[in-house]
Amino acid sequence: MTQQAILDAAARLAAGGLVAFPTETVYGLGADAENPAAVASIYAAKGRPNDHPVIVHLAPGADLDYWAADIPEEARQLVAAFWPGPLTLILKRHAHIPDAVSGGQDTVGLRCPSHPVAMALLSAFKGGQGGVAAPSANKFGNVSPTTAQHVRDEFGGDAGIAVLDGGASQVGIESTILDLSRLATHGPVLLRPGHIGAAQIAAVIGAMPVAPDQTAPRASGTLESHYAPKAPVALVPGEQVQGTLNALAERGRKVALIHYSPLLTRACAQHALPEDPAGYAHGLYAALRAMDRTEAELILVETPPQDDNWLGVNDRLRRAAHGSTGILQDFLAKDSLQ
Ligand code: TXA
Ligand code: MG
Repeated sequence: MTQQAILDAAARLAAGGLVAFPTETVYGLGADAENPAAVASIYAAKGRPNDHPVIVHLAPGADLDYWAADIPEEARQLVAAFWPGPLTLILKRHAHIPDAVSGGQDTVGLRCPSHPVAMALLSAFKGGQGGVAAPSANKFGNVSPTTAQHVRDEFGGDAGIAVLDGGASQVGIESTILDLSRLATHGPVLLRPGHIGAAQIAAVIGAMPVAPDQTAPRASGTLESHYAPKAPVALVPGEQVQGTLNALAERGRKVALIHYSPLLTRACAQHALPEDPAGYAHGLYAALRAMDRTEAELILVETPPQDDNWLGVNDRLRRAAHGSTGILQDFLAKDSLQ
């Protein structure tokens, strides 16, 4: 990545254009957060409902008070501990944040990514004083991109999108989202689990984040069905994987498998991921995309361990599988035996 490419991308953003850029979590599709027309073009490109808020990405050292109002001390402590890094804070928005960014809500999501290309781009854009609104660079509901090629696969035909290539995203799943906008009444609310866990947050602010209740703000990353490949996804416990694959093979079903236990299978394609949560998260979306490119009619995923370290991964897998409920049972139903 040349400095000139960064400067060109920053100029493109300043002119109201779209730039897809790498972050340590996933690739984002960015526009000037203070240009409502540019933000609207993100929604159009993604096919995303425009009442969903987008995260504003800031350069290291950016002025929090320019973007947010009534900032609690806890927010500053978390910024000091985890920025740049994969933590998004939801705060009361400053009056000049456009509705297009906040989805009409009275809050704004802020994050300072740690990927060197993202930091360089944000520092070059408006001299480091601007904000780049960026959802993940995928069509609405799809698996988030963790490489520049994934972004091109999503928006290949769209000449209006420049893509900065910063290699594979290190973390691999989207940032942890913590809502501090109603701290006094609701406490810190964990809207989306991620690489930075609740215990790490609690260690900094002295209060354990709680799960969202029904009054929590809308977040598309918290829709029941999201992050989903085109093929249906079914989660199967490790000890049942072999038997399930055998039964599906007997029924002539083409199945791809994502696993972490050493398994010898009858899947038409399989992809092994590391047995640690960070390594697994890093490879998960590329694995889902790779299995989605095979002839498989179903992607079987060996259920990961259920402990807290796997919260982010299990959250994404549950949403990826949500729209596929019942498909495995249908495939295994007796009368489908050929
Ligand atoms: O890791 C990430 O967060 C990536 C990279 C590109 O930074 N971005 C990302 O953006 O995942 P997106 O739009 O795909 O997901 C952001 C989530 C959405 O669920 C959105 O609704 C929520 O953040 N969000 C943004 N602003 C919010 C707000 N003010 N209140 C509640 N939720 C908000
Ligand atoms: Mg997304």
